[in-house]
Amino acid sequence: MTTIESYLQDNSERFETDLFEWLRMASIATDSAYDDQTRGAANWLADKFKALGLATETIETCGQPLVYAQSPPVAGAPTVLVYGHYDVQPPDPIELWTNPPFEPTVRDGNVYARGATDDKGQMITHLFGVEAALKANGSLPLQVKFLIEGEEESGGAGLDAFLKGKYDDAIGMPMAKKLAADIVVISDCSQYAPGKPAITYGLKGIIYFELFVHGPNRDLHSGSFGGTVTNPANALSEMLAKIKDADGRIQVPGFYDDVIPLSEKESAQFESLNFSDDEFKTELGVENLFGEKDFTTLERRWGRPTFDINGLWSGYQGEGAKTVLPAEAGAKFSFRLVPDQDPEKIHAALEKMLADVCPPGVRIELKNHHGAPGFVLPLGSPFMAAAARAIESGFGTAPVFVRSGGSIPVVNQFKHLLGIDTLLLGWGQDDDNPHSPDEKFSLEDFHRGIHSSACLWAEIAKVQVE
Ligand code: BES
Ligand code: ZN
Repeated sequence: MTTIESYLQDNSERFETDLFEWLRMASIATDSAYDDQTRGAANWLADKFKALGLATETIETCGQPLVYAQSPPVAGAPTVLVYGHYDVQPPDPIELWTNPPFEPTVRDGNVYARGATDDKGQMITHLFGVEAALKANGSLPLQVKFLIEGEEESGGAGLDAFLKGKYDDAIGMPMAKKLAADIVVISDCSQYAPGKPAITYGLKGIIYFELFVHGPNRDLHSGSFGGTVTNPANALSEMLAKIKDADGRIQVPGFYDDVIPLSEKESAQFESLNFSDDEFKTELGVENLFGEKDFTTLERRWGRPTFDINGLWSGYQGEGAKTVLPAEAGAKFSFRLVPDQDPEKIHAALEKMLADVCPPGVRIELKNHHGAPGFVLPLGSPFMAAAARAIESGFGTAPVFVRSGGSIPVVNQFKHLLGIDTLLLGWGQDDDNPHSPDEKFSLEDFHRGIHSSACLWAEIAKVQVE
């Protein structure tokens, strides 16, 4: 007889070797130069599911393939759908990495590699968790389905088409039947702090824009022409500066109309986490924090909408000085949204505001890249209690309940297209550097995540479903 604990112990090195092997595959889905490696990462995962005896399919899409796998149904027990992604962000700027991004390296108990925390390292804990539960008990107490996509970091076009039923013929049944489940599990976010595991019950929504400002028909000498025409870079700065006031309040008319205010109970719950502004400042290397007036840092991070410029360009970017009055300027910016803000309403209000504040002499174009609403999940559900028990087994301490400023738009689709809520069980840390150089994942958290996952299935199986 093997117990889950002894199985985990006996296989802990192999779990690491397997993860490192997967991390070596540069599955940068946005770059066609990496198509073979992206496909390789999908095939590698599919082979692992097959080796576990799961019925596994690689579903071709308009983009990268989806990897789908399922264990047999168990009568009277719930079904769980595990979602994750095998694609990774491009590693640039590559020169800022301490070790090459696709050569996983262990330092101070962390594995450093692109995809270590986002999301290969976190996702694969569930594959090993299912393996441990299966090997220790001979069978799983419920049905587990895995849906692992390859385009999360680039808009998820393939998954979107799949969820809208476009590949129903290819999979031989309606998508909703294939994915039917009682609860979704995703590990693609963070714990509250080291040693403080968390269940995330709310994520922000997002609406992402690009604004182009067109001015004179060519770049001009800023001495000969300055003061005679509107400079698109000046116009862009003026417009962007009007979006937020000095108190950190967003000035788009009606922006806050649908924001659900934080309840006193929720603010008190945030307060009970004893978040330290001083430690946060030190960690980020800043002297002061700034955000919407009259809210605490955690309230602003987790429960209030925000506006950030994500990219800005115009004029001369090269070395030295050049006296140019640029013909064009542009910015990428996004709003993080909270329930019940509607991305489409925000889009319309912003378009109108920009038309009103645009200085004469330039023409603007606003492109909306993507949008998704935010959400909070019901806190008292028996699935959350089950997850909390599993996390306590894996981490040796009960989780705290947190919200997050990040966005995982597919969670909305699971809710609205399939009617299923999600358990967000993040094993990462806030300083894991996802999307940045030196991305890392703590190996201790990796193993605790596997342990929690191995216990999760039996805990969820106890939940009564019709
Ligand atoms: N794993 C993150 C989402 C996340 C980050 C959740 C931090 C909780 C805490 C995910 O891979 C991601 O980066 N999502 C994007 C979504 C966007 C491009 C629609 C994000 O939040 O920027
Ligand atoms: Zn990401």
